[in-house]
Amino acid sequence: MLAAWVHGSLAQGPSGQDLVKRLNCQACHTLAGKGGKLGPNLDKAGQHLTSEAIKKILVHPHGGMPNFAYLKPEELEAVVHYLSGLK
Ligand code: HEC
Repeated sequence: MLAAWVHGSLAQGPSGQDLVKRLNCQACHTLAGKGGKLGPNLDKAGQHLTSEAIKKILVHPHGGMPNFAYLKPEELEAVVHYLSGLK
């Protein structure tokens, strides 16, 4: 199952960067140098978080992070892929 997440084709899927903007993650997180300070800075999320860890906090959040388990699987995958690539 995880392999499908990580290796799924993103060619036709939604863009993670667009989703992160649309979902307003920047209300609480700094991304590309801009955003809120309520949550941790995500500019280099991929340096210290695995794809698995990013996916986990989106669907099983804690500590003030909203739940994004309602996203479609391909949307979640795109967000995870985008954040894990920020290094
Ligand atoms: C209402 C404010 C808020 C919004 C909106 C929000 N987050 Fe968070 N997020 C948090 C907080 C607060 C934490 C810290 C949770 C903790 O440490 O327990 C967090 C933690 C995280 C983490 C873990 C970071 C780390 O270094 O451990 C990731 C990844 C993350 N958020 C991604 C996202 C994404 C992607 C979105 C948009 C889809 C988003 N967040 C929207 C508040 C928010």
